[in-house]
Amino acid sequence: MKQTQLKANITATGKYLPKEVLTNHDMAKLVETSDEWIQTRTGIRERRKVQKGEATVDMSTNAVRDLMERYDLDAKEIDAIIVATVTPDMILPCSAALVQKNINAVNAWGYDLSAACSGFLFGLESGAALIVSGRCEKVIVIGADTMSSILNYEDRNTCILFGDGAGAVLLEPSEEFGIIDSELRIDGTGGEFLRVDGGGSLHPASHETVSNKLHYVRQDGKTVYKFAVRGMADISYEVAERNNLKGDDISLFIPHQANKRIIDAAAKRLGLKESQVMINIDTYANTTSATIPICIAEVSEKNMLNIGDNVIISTFGAGFSWGAMYLKWGMQANA
Ligand code: UT7
Repeated sequence: MKQTQLKANITATGKYLPKEVLTNHDMAKLVETSDEWIQTRTGIRERRKVQKGEATVDMSTNAVRDLMERYDLDAKEIDAIIVATVTPDMILPCSAALVQKNINAVNAWGYDLSAACSGFLFGLESGAALIVSGRCEKVIVIGADTMSSILNYEDRNTCILFGDGAGAVLLEPSEEFGIIDSELRIDGTGGEFLRVDGGGSLHPASHETVSNKLHYVRQDGKTVYKFAVRGMADISYEVAERNNLKGDDISLFIPHQANKRIIDAAAKRLGLKESQVMINIDTYANTTSATIPICIAEVSEKNMLNIGDNVIISTFGAGFSWGAMYLKWGMQANA
């Protein structure tokens, strides 16, 4: 995206995490694994899981309600709602419509966006386009996933990695702060390495798809890891470099939380110290579309940034899909 006068600025955030905590020790009761293995290989200590009957729309609604309480936003002011998710409550209607109903955002339109772990970043880009074009003044972008609904709790390669959660941001126009630049990519040649085959139009749900466990996440972890390490580091560096940002110029790096080792590699490439990197994978694991908005909400809750600070956000996920974004933080403390 070229630099323009008007920017899309994040002015409010909210988040929701289900109450139930599954520790690595809990996972070790389900599959052959250990706290030591999971922590060393991924940086994860625990993750959250929805209660029966709770799903993506509930979590999204709660995240937006949290945002509205913090920012004193009237739902009638919202122009559009974008929900990034790979685990919508149902195939149709879209989650955005159900969130719109729950919060009574009577003037909003919206849609769901599916790009796995990159969904929220791509959603921010879409929301920003609505703001910068002047079509909308207040856009809610949500990242939410109920990963427990598509995990095979007998597969130690995948079930230990993911958790449930939701985060939301409000985008508004600003001439000074907000999204300055981004670089986003997809490459379908990586599609086979991280997938859910069942339940789509190619393999509609049937007794056979269920008995073959096609509705669960399958991942070739090693291959995804290899591409993720290079992909996230390269694209973050590219966006930082073309904006003349070197190590200390970056106040905070907010990466997708898939594996602490992938994050460390990207941070090293950017020349960052540990204190410049947002990490919460230890407590929530990989919540797919929700990792980045949950991070942003925590950054704001903890007042970790000042107005005008340089932030790089970056992601890598199924598709392959990946990207990085540079923004100037423009959110008032405690908003
Ligand atoms: O956000 C979406 C994008 N996804 C990612 O970015 C994930 C990318 N991949 C990864 O993060 C890592 O590849 C994993 C964390 C999934 C795996 O770590 P790894 O260091 O690549 O381990 P590995 O797959 O090479 O497995 C090493 C060993 C294997 O045993 P053998 O074949 O060496 O005997 C696995 O069977 O660890 C075994 N293993 C486990 N052991 C204990 C695999 N999963 C587990 C487990 N507990 N949960």
